[in-house]
Amino acid sequence: MDPAAANKRLARYQAKLEAVEKILEDKSRELFLANQEEQKANAYLQNIISSMQSCLIVTDAQCIIQVVNQATLELLGYESQDLEGKSLAMLNVEGYSIDLTDLEALSSIDTLVRQEIKYRAKNGEKVPVLFSSSAMYDTEDKLNGIVCAALDLSTYKILENQLLQSEKMASIGQLAAGVAHEINNPMGFIFSNLGTLSEYIEEIIGLLETYKNLEESVAKSDVENAQAQLAKLKETKEEIDLDYLLGDIKELIEESHEGANRVRKIVQNLKEFSHSGQGDKIFANLNEGLDSTINIVWNELKYKVTLDKDYGDIPEILCYAQEINQVFMNLLVNAGHAIEERGEIKIRTYEEENYICVSIADSGKGMPADVQKRAFEPFFTTKKIGEGTGLGLSMSYQIVVDKHGGELQFESEIDVGTTFIMKLPKVSNEN
Ligand SMILES: Nc1ncnc2c1ncn2[C@@H]1O[C@H](COP(=O)(O)OP(=O)(O)OP(=O)(O)O)[C@@H](O)[C@H]1O
Ligand SMILES: [Mg+2]
Repeated sequence: MDPAAANKRLARYQAKLEAVEKILEDKSRELFLANQEEQKANAYLQNIISSMQSCLIVTDAQCIIQVVNQATLELLGYESQDLEGKSLAMLNVEGYSIDLTDLEALSSIDTLVRQEIKYRAKNGEKVPVLFSSSAMYDTEDKLNGIVCAALDLSTYKILENQLLQSEKMASIGQLAAGVAHEINNPMGFIFSNLGTLSEYIEEIIGLLETYKNLEESVAKSDVENAQAQLAKLKETKEEIDLDYLLGDIKELIEESHEGANRVRKIVQNLKEFSHSGQGDKIFANLNEGLDSTINIVWNELKYKVTLDKDYGDIPEILCYAQEINQVFMNLLVNAGHAIEERGEIKIRTYEEENYICVSIADSGKGMPADVQKRAFEPFFTTKKIGEGTGLGLSMSYQIVVDKHGGELQFESEIDVGTTFIMKLPKVSNEN
């Protein structure tokens, strides 16, 4: 090839090379910019995640933790390397969580929106959280991870406990009025009987004195005096109607006895109701708890309610008996309130495989759907101010479900009535 042609060809190649270099340069600039944008977006996302107040954990499709935010680490006391790459199961608290390795449950929208569960902290403590999870899918609709969001409930739980305490005080105040009335009644007639009895005794003492005099006259063979005493005796006996009086004394004493017994029973029930062994779990028979609670709320119910009790032969269970009685009281008072004129409350106790169950069914006005949805919400009430605080059911739920690992459910139909069913585990799973 002649040198001129070669030079030309070389120039052409050079021009092509330059063009390619230019393209390459443009592409790398684009790539660099894109990279920068991605880094920015990533940092932005990281920033959002780490400044979130709520706890966030993202796992892959095998429940292996990929991302965990600062709020989670702080709440549970972990470092990120303690959790990242580990199974979500390490936060599981048995009995208080949905199984954190159960992919199906975690990715189902229906079951896992705002459930109260517990996370296990690094120091072993169980931390209550409001938990929601949802599934992430890739472009081919294949599950590629789970997003778990949780809100710390510890402060709320402390408040809830304080509320439980004040609700207890309020209901004890309410009770005190009822109990005072119940005690006042028998005390009233015991007092009046004692008044009548002391009048009778005065009269009998007068009679006995005349007898004494008669005895003395007879001993002295003072016939005249003896006759006078005898006449006086007859006269007084008629005057005071001795036969009636003797019969009445017996009745008054029997009645007073009965009244005193009633007072004793009420006091005993109160003692059982508020069990002085507070704070500890004790072995208790729910039938007895029901009976003593019924006696205490009976004052509120007796004018409009017929009780139908069907108690099963149930074994004692280990429980916070006083708080369970509080649940009975809430349910019975609610049932009473739901009955407007006259109605029935049916109480049944029975055993199921792992549970002791109590059902309390009223023939009251029932709950419309919107009330049913909110019945367990704290402060939700349909009652007038001063009549209800709206805490009864939420506290009952806390006692039965959170404290005892039991269940509290209800069914209700307008104008037919409402049935609450409480189930307590036979073997308690400790909280
Ligand atoms: N057996 C029932 N029949 C009909 N409605 C009921 C029954 N039990 C509860 N409810 C409804 O649920 C609401 C909430 O009940 P809850 O016991 O929590 O509060 P409350 O009875 O209103 O007030 P509190 O118990 O604090 O004095 C009630 O106001 C009532 O509307
Ligand atoms: Mg109530």
